[in-house]
Amino acid sequence: MDKFIIKGGTPLTGTIPISGSKNAALPLMAAALLGNSETTITNVPRLKDIYTFNNVIRVSGARVDFLEDQNTLKIDPANVSHLEAPYDLVRKMRASFYMLGALVGRYGKAKVSLPGGCAWGPRPVDLHLKGMKEMGINISLEKGYVIASADKQLKGGSFTLEPSSVGATINLLLASVLRAEKFVINNAAKEPDVVQLCNFLVQMGADIEGIGSRQLTIRGVDSLSGITASNDPDRIELGTFMIAGAMHPDSELTLTGCNPEHLGNFPGLLRRTGTQVDIDEDAIHIKAPETIKPVSITAEVYPGFPTDLQAQWATMMTQADGTSSVTDNVYYDRFSYVPELVRLGADMDVEKNTVVISGKTALTGASVMSTDLRASVSLVLAAMIAENTTEVLRIYHLDRGYESLENKLNAIGAQLKRTQD
Ligand code: EPZ
Repeated sequence: MDKFIIKGGTPLTGTIPISGSKNAALPLMAAALLGNSETTITNVPRLKDIYTFNNVIRVSGARVDFLEDQNTLKIDPANVSHLEAPYDLVRKMRASFYMLGALVGRYGKAKVSLPGGCAWGPRPVDLHLKGMKEMGINISLEKGYVIASADKQLKGGSFTLEPSSVGATINLLLASVLRAEKFVINNAAKEPDVVQLCNFLVQMGADIEGIGSRQLTIRGVDSLSGITASNDPDRIELGTFMIAGAMHPDSELTLTGCNPEHLGNFPGLLRRTGTQVDIDEDAIHIKAPETIKPVSITAEVYPGFPTDLQAQWATMMTQADGTSSVTDNVYYDRFSYVPELVRLGADMDVEKNTVVISGKTALTGASVMSTDLRASVSLVLAAMIAENTTEVLRIYHLDRGYESLENKLNAIGAQLKRTQD
């Protein structure tokens, strides 16, 4: 297994290009199966989860070509015949569960493995299944698989998501655009990944009202065509590097190829720490403060603070001058990074779905363990400002979500070395 050896204490100065978003690309890839011709998606990051999903889609019989050096994916659904997504692939990447909506939506049948849990606990899919049943899709569970079938034209109906779920909104969109006379999703997710999917489906010929709002109304159409479209830049990678640029007093970064609108209330909160945040069209300039002011945050659904950035924020708060708290109202137990930061010298305690952080604490290098995609990158952020050397183990978690992380960080002054453990 690979690990990082990171020498801390160096400021970050320079420019980082932001890659395409993993979480935005995955639903587009599933949507490509709904088209009656080939779809091309550009700005797709070269990440493990993308390669995994390529293989899941290939199981169905679709042709998938990933032109890696151009970050371009071509998906041709002409030969889809095997309407299944197997456990050994779905367990590796839970977003493979989107195959349920795509296959039953296009072909009226699907056999898709239930996704496994993940590092920080159960992640149910009950809303996906309840919403599909409400739409008129027959759903049964057999030996860990969801078996779905549906008539050509479903009457449809409406369903309210409690809580608002990104994945359930995506799966219900994929299932309904070709198959439900009319389906209304209430309390729909409004994350940019969902908005992009809706616009992508409309470009294919779908009829969706309320895009970007909490209520989506889908009216089924007879067919959808393959299209060419560009994938959004990664807002979570962007937020991660903005925090990286705030943590050492001499750091100054420019992040290019991004979409600042996708950050919700994040830039305003970062400014409250004393960090200078200047926003251009598609670039953000960060200048670190002399001292970081403590700012407490609560992770909520979009446009609130993204849960995928709360571990990174808590890490920055270990360097703030005072006490702050980070609460996660989306995932109550997403704090597996805390004991690892404590090993580096952080002073933080978890109480229910809140971590209280007392800063400023000097961090000193040690061996720490990655536990999930977002927690792992917070260990890298901490290691870059810790004294001496830190080794971050099991960085395969990182390879799932950050394209060429060490190259990007080393190009701006960090000292990361990847070795075999
Ligand atoms: C997506 O996961 C992202 N994954 C996650 O990013 C992200 O953290 C999450 O949205 C929240 O923004 C992808 O896009 C591939 P949810 P998803 O359904 O869709 C509960 C990363 O690091 N819920 O919006 O699975 C659920 O338990 C990943 O890239 C149900 O109760 O998240 C959670 O508390 C991690 N029943 C809340 O809703 C359901 O049927 C939000 O989950 C579905 C969800």
